[in-house]
Amino acid sequence: MAANEDAFKKVVSHAKEFGFVFPSSEIYDGLSATYDYAQNGVELKNNIKKYWWMSMVQLHEEIVGLDAAIFMHPKTWKASGHVDAFNDPMIDNKDSNKRYRADVLIEEHIAKIEGKINKDITKAKKRFGDAFNEEEFRATNGNVLRRLKEISDIETKMGDALNNDKLDDLQQLIIDLGITCAVSGSKNWTEVKQFNLMFGTELGAVSGDASKIYLRPETAQGIFVNYLNVQKTGRMKIPFGIAQIGKAFRNEIVARQFIFRMREFEQMEMQFFIEPGTQMKWFEYWKETRIKWHKALGLGDENYRFHDHIQLAHYADAATDIEFNFPFGFKELEGIHSRTDFDLKQHEEFSGKKLRYFDPETKENIVPYVLETSIGVDRMFLAVLSKSLKEEQLEDGTERTVLSLPAPLAPIKAAILPLVRKDGLPEKAREILKLLQMEHNCMYEEKDSIGKRYRRQDAIGTPYCIAVDYETLDDNMVTIRDRDTMKQERVAISDLVSIIGKKVSMSNLFQ
Ligand code: GAP
Repeated sequence: MAANEDAFKKVVSHAKEFGFVFPSSEIYDGLSATYDYAQNGVELKNNIKKYWWMSMVQLHEEIVGLDAAIFMHPKTWKASGHVDAFNDPMIDNKDSNKRYRADVLIEEHIAKIEGKINKDITKAKKRFGDAFNEEEFRATNGNVLRRLKEISDIETKMGDALNNDKLDDLQQLIIDLGITCAVSGSKNWTEVKQFNLMFGTELGAVSGDASKIYLRPETAQGIFVNYLNVQKTGRMKIPFGIAQIGKAFRNEIVARQFIFRMREFEQMEMQFFIEPGTQMKWFEYWKETRIKWHKALGLGDENYRFHDHIQLAHYADAATDIEFNFPFGFKELEGIHSRTDFDLKQHEEFSGKKLRYFDPETKENIVPYVLETSIGVDRMFLAVLSKSLKEEQLEDGTERTVLSLPAPLAPIKAAILPLVRKDGLPEKAREILKLLQMEHNCMYEEKDSIGKRYRRQDAIGTPYCIAVDYETLDDNMVTIRDRDTMKQERVAISDLVSIIGKKVSMSNLFQ
């Protein structure tokens, strides 16, 4: 098994074993691409949402929140383009009957060529040592140049086929590149077909087209249709933003990779309403702001990169993804899109209502442009979980599994552990729990040896363990153990709130 595949399997089984993520309705053998967040998972997820909300709403004077309904008037999705254009190009392998996204097959082929370039670079680095200049090598080496040209040709052909809906060309490209099915190994492909990703249902008891509604495939439209309500009632001036966290639903065909691609997932989206013509300035601003937000978590700067879109969505004039180095490679974590005035203009047309902003300075009515940042909560969860899970070799030769989560995101901030289950130690420990739980999410645990309890807390990422022993009864001091260094220190009970507070405060992430 490849090392990264093995690492990914460990993340999935750790998530289940330690109460983070369970397959949905598992007693019925689960439902594909649907997951439930368990006792520790829901805390981690809530903390991720809190970190995002704080950065967007609490710390931005000009951004406010919203919680729109999942069901929206069906015209919304006609206006947004989702009924006609929210499709994925699908292709089936005739031998395995496996279905793939045609563009993903091609992107994976490109990634293989990039892998070959990286191999050439690694080899040359070894050969030339300190004298090696990567930039020069990339610009002059024959093999690298040939491969870069190959990538560029494929991207151009794919871009043209996707942007112009030339599905035959997409199929031909897959055939020409000799792409094989990972299951059957054959090149026996069907034609490429478009598949709409929205889930439909019916409103009320009457069936038929008139009552057809959709589960929203993105939260953004709830923001667009409310933009003028918020602007007027909040007396907002452009530029201003509306932020929202909520569920979205997509009937993904190739739903796999655990919580990376699900059919029911959660998004954190922010639409920033700006003056037309200023979109590139704001595009750069939000790129920089969002990457800073990610890097502040300390999961490793090298694990992030931008990937500009070749195929622009039907509403965008510029778009980039923040990609993260998941256990299965670099993949999209967040999208930043310059959506122009597409959505607001469409809603004006379909609703017959003016959605204009009156600029008090120029005395003009305008349709604002929109800059959007959109991130999946579940993908963020997977990013944090996978990079935090570590197996450490200790000095005494033993091993420990530790989830070195950023402390402000940890599900439980401190565990209070009486050394023994008698002689008044549990009562003292519960007293400490009462004191701490007003400020932080803490837990009490008395089962098993203290060593075993430390290991269990390490595995769920608890930054501090607090041991209560016989001396505590006399001197009101406890032993506090740090998850990462495993160092233990004797401190006064009265100092615990502030010691823990300093470590787990969200404000640490904004310095
Ligand atoms: N409003 C724009 C929009 O929805 P998107 O790139 O389709 O853009 C934004 O989605 C983010 O939502 C993605 O970057 C990803 O993090 C998350 N996302 C999209 N589809 C998902 C799925 N099936 N499962 C989990 N997360 C998903």
